[in-house]
Amino acid sequence: MSTEHIDIFDTTLRDGEQVPGCKLNTAQKLKIADALDNLGVDIIEAGFPISSPGDFHSVEEIAKLVKNATVCGLSRAVQKDIEVAAEALKYAKRPRIHTGIGTSDSHIKHKFNSTREKIIEQAVEAVKFARNFTSDVEFYAEDAGRTDNAFLAEVCTAVVKAGATVLNIPDTTGYCLPDEYGAKIKYLTEHVVGIEKVKLSCHCHNDLGLATANAIAGVINGARQIECTINGIGERAGNTALEEVVMILRQHPALHLSTNIKTQQLTGLSRMVSQEMGMTVQANKAIVGENAFAHSSGIHQDGVIKNRETYEIIDPADVGVTESSIVLTARSGRSALAYTAKKIGYELTKNDLDIIYLEFLKFADNCKQVQDNDLHHIIALSKNRLQINY
Ligand code: KIV
Ligand code: ZN
Repeated sequence: MSTEHIDIFDTTLRDGEQVPGCKLNTAQKLKIADALDNLGVDIIEAGFPISSPGDFHSVEEIAKLVKNATVCGLSRAVQKDIEVAAEALKYAKRPRIHTGIGTSDSHIKHKFNSTREKIIEQAVEAVKFARNFTSDVEFYAEDAGRTDNAFLAEVCTAVVKAGATVLNIPDTTGYCLPDEYGAKIKYLTEHVVGIEKVKLSCHCHNDLGLATANAIAGVINGARQIECTINGIGERAGNTALEEVVMILRQHPALHLSTNIKTQQLTGLSRMVSQEMGMTVQANKAIVGENAFAHSSGIHQDGVIKNRETYEIIDPADVGVTESSIVLTARSGRSALAYTAKKIGYELTKNDLDIIYLEFLKFADNCKQVQDNDLHHIIALSKNRLQINY
């Protein structure tokens, strides 16, 4: 069975940058865009050009800089937005206009005070207008997660006919369950007229912690693009995390889905984005968190020291981490203590280990983590009771 390619659409610089306090200047955006291009993403959503002169300028500069990826600009389904997005993208080698409108009954009634018929008309007009500037037009059906599937298929059919080349199905509010989101994508593959000419895209938010699971359910059911951000940053609880979906597809070859991402760059890029945005990554964050490859309980440490694969499903080198770490805490066992002691220069006999372990536990019970310096100190304190003179 051949492997199919999943396009990685990075929206760190658009949906990601919407996070309060994370605004970037143009120089910072260029640095991140360049790193994303080198990472191997297929599409970079560079911003929302009509939103401010600064964002317009950033999109324009990113469009000039990026060598490989398609550069995309967001717009509402409004002519002026689309014109401004096209203008900002004019230097891009591969420009994409991303336009769209809310399709759920809640958006139609409360946001637009409109009707389903008028929403389809506006969507079609926007797509046709965008096609005057580029042949690559992505349409987003905002709040598709809560949009009735039959109506969503009707909207999608109309915009495909109008010239859309990618259909973005956002779970804008992060409401869907993975089965539900997967079924929505499957329904669209079966009911949108002309679907064979276009790509379906997953754009999932993390309000219930399901953004990654939903995106994966989407591609299993036929979507061929995932919209995501580095570290999963984004509105409210964030978006699908790029590093998570990429590693899921890589670690599950039976899915027969792959990306072009150079995974060894993931940790470095995560740190860069965190630093530029001033947003710390939680220590237990999958793939790129400080503790993603750290082992602190005795049972796990003993296993990892014997064979890394007992408690690790990813080789840390594959995501750019030099090695797994053994962290000494009051929950650590003799095996981790001997391993760490050896690393810092002590080859302990069994008897020495028994003596030092007792001292170690007394010390460890009073602190969160025992550092190498502490261990030197513990060994020095026990010196006159040890067989070997260290
Ligand atoms: O979450 C969402 O619906 C979006 C669209 C603007 C694509 O970010
Ligand atoms: Zn979004």
